[in-house]
Amino acid sequence: MLVKGLLPLLALVKIAVSLPAAPVPPSEGLRLVKFSEDDEGTWVTEDQKFDLFISKKINFVDVTDTWQLEEFGATTGSSLEARQISFPSGPTHQSQANPLIAVAGKSNPQSWTNTFTSYNNRYYRSTTGVTSATWLYNTIKNIGAANSAITVTQYSHSASGFSQQSVIAKIPGTSSATVVIGAHLDSVGTTTSGRAPGADDNNSGTVTILEAFRVLANAKFAPTNTLEFHWYAGEEGGLLGSRAIFNSYASAGRNIKAVLVQDMTGYSPNNVIAVYTDYVSTALTNFIKTIVPVYTSLPVITDVCGYGCSDHASANSAGYPASFVTEDTFDDSSPYIHSASDTVSTLDFDHILEHIKLTIGFAVEASYF
Ligand code: BES
Ligand code: ZN
Repeated sequence: MLVKGLLPLLALVKIAVSLPAAPVPPSEGLRLVKFSEDDEGTWVTEDQKFDLFISKKINFVDVTDTWQLEEFGATTGSSLEARQISFPSGPTHQSQANPLIAVAGKSNPQSWTNTFTSYNNRYYRSTTGVTSATWLYNTIKNIGAANSAITVTQYSHSASGFSQQSVIAKIPGTSSATVVIGAHLDSVGTTTSGRAPGADDNNSGTVTILEAFRVLANAKFAPTNTLEFHWYAGEEGGLLGSRAIFNSYASAGRNIKAVLVQDMTGYSPNNVIAVYTDYVSTALTNFIKTIVPVYTSLPVITDVCGYGCSDHASANSAGYPASFVTEDTFDDSSPYIHSASDTVSTLDFDHILEHIKLTIGFAVEASYF
């Protein structure tokens, strides 16, 4: 009788072990944040999250709604497959990329920057965080209209409790295997309602990938791999937008061959292109290092950024090969970020144009991965 009763009980225990339950907040509205990979997580209020972490510059990731992401990354078939892909030893499509690079310019990035930084802030929980992201969506949609094959959609984060939406623009390839080029669209200041132009962090990355997208859309570039351009909401809130998107891609088993994230491209006292080497694919990062001197006029340097630094970490957690390109060493990057001083006047559009050239070169090369 005792043994008979034990068997179904053991089966139940087994189910409970193989299906981990969603974390339950100790009280309504708390967020689960992690300060390192091994951290179990701490429940905090939205106000604590802002005060303790954003204004005190402690790196963190908000895993409340995407607690399965790292698990997907370790187990999903498509990401394991993607992880094993090797990358070419150097660029091989210059003759196709160079004419596209030649039509990239600074005037559109400058004019988009003037509008995008004129919103009071682009904080993911503020009204101008929503209206600025909607303006960006409409702008991308108009640019994408140059090629009827292109789709531009908003990605809602209402399930995570905020209204700012990410944007996904897709240039379909002959293969559903996909290469992602991303940048975060939100900004943050010293208070949740204060001025945060975010000209460098990360209007610069936003307009960098938008100019590359404009050039490819106008040329009706037809890739082999599908190309997706992502503008992520809520990065400053702990990588929220990118974690949600890569969580959905990993859970759907999508084959993502490579991800290039750019965060801060407009301030470079050493006049370099920086490739950061932590929370990325070393193989993909090595490939990027080979294309920088071919597609730009700047030398490449490397540095590290730390846990939860930007959206490449979300792709990496999902098990996808990720890379991260930015303006300079961590110490020499813009000192004005996360404040009212991150203004257009601090930006070097010649430097942004070098990032645009790299982005177009990468898009063409990666379309054949
Ligand atoms: N753009 C920064 C990260 C960054 C800083 C890149 C310096 C290159 C040079 C990003 O938006 C940011 O602020 N990240 C936070 C972590 C985030 C989870 C709040 C950080 O690194 O402090
Ligand atoms: Zn940033």
